[in-house]
Amino acid sequence: MQIQHNISLKKYNTFGIDAKANHFVSINTIKELKEVLQLSEYPKRFILGGGSNMLLTKDVEALVMHIHLKGIEIVSQDDSSALVKAQAGENWHNFVLWCLQNDFGGLENLSLIPGNVGTAPIQNIGAYGVELKDAFVSCEALEIATLETKTFTNEACNFEYRNSVFKQALKGKYIITSVLFKLTKNNHILRTNYGAIASQLEVMKVEEPTIQEVSKAVIAIRESKLPNPKEIGNSGSFFKNPVISLQDFEKLKQNFPEIPNYPVSSSSIKIPAGWLIEKAGFKGKRFGNYGVHEKQALVLVNYDNAKGSEILKLSKVIQETIMRIFNIYIEAEVNII
Ligand code: EPU
Repeated sequence: MQIQHNISLKKYNTFGIDAKANHFVSINTIKELKEVLQLSEYPKRFILGGGSNMLLTKDVEALVMHIHLKGIEIVSQDDSSALVKAQAGENWHNFVLWCLQNDFGGLENLSLIPGNVGTAPIQNIGAYGVELKDAFVSCEALEIATLETKTFTNEACNFEYRNSVFKQALKGKYIITSVLFKLTKNNHILRTNYGAIASQLEVMKVEEPTIQEVSKAVIAIRESKLPNPKEIGNSGSFFKNPVISLQDFEKLKQNFPEIPNYPVSSSSIKIPAGWLIEKAGFKGKRFGNYGVHEKQALVLVNYDNAKGSEILKLSKVIQETIMRIFNIYIEAEVNII
């Protein structure tokens, strides 16, 4: 274990922002994790996973702890399902591919989501009708204050749309070290009626899809809409889709009859923020080194060496404009550092 100083975080965040960490250490074992947490000379710490859901607007004046815990194991299995444990530092998509190679179903709709296994529960990652919580059994996490390990069941995580207890009451208090999933071995439950999956499978001429084919369809859709962070810096959806009351929705519909909407309950409706941003004229807009993605308005992009503060400023202009036009607040999904 080696502590480095004055390190660029550019390759550790998918936005590709060139902010610096005062101190940086890669953590490969739980033992190292505990040792580092006991170092009194670095009281300020910053936990870094895949760096796929944050915007660095300044240098990080702390010890950045890069969680690099690796390993995937089948904990138990019967005829119909398997319990699989993955360490926090495993890349999410590589883990999904490992599941598919073993013909374990449940995560295929979550293919190609950037980030790591250990940070996936924090915001309950989701795509194409599936959320992490649907296959999540429990996770192990180390309490920073006591160095004790605690197991959080699915229920204890309070999962909601892009939200969990780790973003709320327990924010900054625990480091997730591994996640346990329950996956199907046969009788896979295919979720193909969401978004463009069915039409993509048609394009692929697949009539009775396997989980591997569903994954391929999801990958094709994502690649067609979302920029690859290795080519263009981004953090996926920058904003959450807002949920508004039925009353407000009825009012909006008078001015915007074509507004897409997804009922959440009998009194609330989710509106795609991407539509609001596109309607406000931002889609594809480029401001020097940064801008709004041309194919998905929910994604802000760093074309080349933009500053986090510039992207933050753009996000605020977008929020204010959406408020002015639609009277809706769109909350950032990405963590602003
Ligand atoms: N839309 C537009 N213009 C745009 C983008 C979207 O009008 O530029 C409208 C369209 O009506 C479209 C609808 O929004 O039908 C939904 O768009 P899309 O299917 O792309 O999904 P989304 O609601 O914009 C959410 C997630 C994505 C996830 C997709 C697919 C959030 C914040 N985002 O986006 O997650 O991949 O659904 O399930 O919930 C991420 O979190 O980083 C992410 C990419």
